[in-house]
Amino acid sequence: MDTLLALPTPDMLDKAADILISGGLVAFPTETVYGLGANALDELAVRGIFVAKGRPADNPLIVHVDGVHMAQRVCVWNNMAQELATAFWPGPLTMVLPRRGIVSDIVTAGLATVGVRMPDHPVAHQLIKRCGLPLAAPSANLSGRPSPTRAAHVMDDFDGKIPMILDGGECAIGVESTVVDMSGTVPTILRPGAVTPEQVAMVLGECRVSPAVRRDLLPGEDAPSPGMRHRHYAPRAAMTLVKGDPEAVARYINAAYNKTDSAVILAFTPHLLLYGERRVRNLGPDAATAAHRLFYILRELDDLGFKEIYSETLPATGLGLAVMNRLARAAAFRIVDAGAPTPAQGPDT
Ligand code: TXA
Ligand code: MG
Repeated sequence: MDTLLALPTPDMLDKAADILISGGLVAFPTETVYGLGANALDELAVRGIFVAKGRPADNPLIVHVDGVHMAQRVCVWNNMAQELATAFWPGPLTMVLPRRGIVSDIVTAGLATVGVRMPDHPVAHQLIKRCGLPLAAPSANLSGRPSPTRAAHVMDDFDGKIPMILDGGECAIGVESTVVDMSGTVPTILRPGAVTPEQVAMVLGECRVSPAVRRDLLPGEDAPSPGMRHRHYAPRAAMTLVKGDPEAVARYINAAYNKTDSAVILAFTPHLLLYGERRVRNLGPDAATAAHRLFYILRELDDLGFKEIYSETLPATGLGLAVMNRLARAAAFRIVDAGAPTPAQGPDT
């Protein structure tokens, strides 16, 4: 099959809508990452997503809608959901709510709930509007690879496997949406994203963060979200996160780097000088820039064939929680502590 890579002109949006209505797959941009869409109400079309991605059937898909009205057709709405939608939709927030019968078991992986989100991107919005259908769409990457933040990434994974990719340029945010479980009494973050737990708590008064957001599942522990059972965001290189005082981190990383000829370093802008002439990728000055760049960098490093990646960490607050979660999962939770500053180098000695 030839894959059409197209700019989102009105004609091409019509063509994309036709493909979706007739049961095909179209990759499209959102403000978080690119999605691989199908008609959420067409079981066969949705099966096609799982086949194309090589996605395990037990990992449910997010249903993308063009507003609250369409959301209410696929899930059982409630007051808390309305408050969050008013505050954050369109935007990077997926709400997990009891599903309606119109949504098939394939989409929800047999769960009694469904994830719904209204993306904040004109192309995604236009596409849903034109076909008048909710779109089931996971991130448009092969299962296990980093999520795509550019159309070229989608092409890398799906050229020849899907009929069409709409090119909307770089995704503004760069990490996937916040997933919040709204089906119980207390809203609970299952996957951190650009809408932070602090922001949800400001609207609803409280917000829990599932413990599995900050660490790997314990042996025998049930995954609160099926996505946590699977290794996501995985680069091909072995990745290690190093936390602690920046100077101690750089000493640790430089020593490890010097032992191999196929390593690369991920560092934040204020620390670049600590790594001398070594190969470094700049995560930027802050969490928002790191979110925007991370998956792009991981894909680039895969293409270049590095065997080891050593990365700095950042505080897991605000958007930093989402970036740390993606880094930790890419590193399969391999995190070493380089420790505190050595006394001789402390500021007071
Ligand atoms: O930003 C995003 O959310 C992107 C764009 C395309 O919208 N989509 C995305 O989809 O990241 P995906 O399939 O890669 O990730 C969906 C996550 C998975 O971890 C899945 O387990 C979880 O959401 N999820 C979906 N439905 C769920 C449900 N009913 N209960 C719990 N977790 C659910
Ligand atoms: Mg994904």
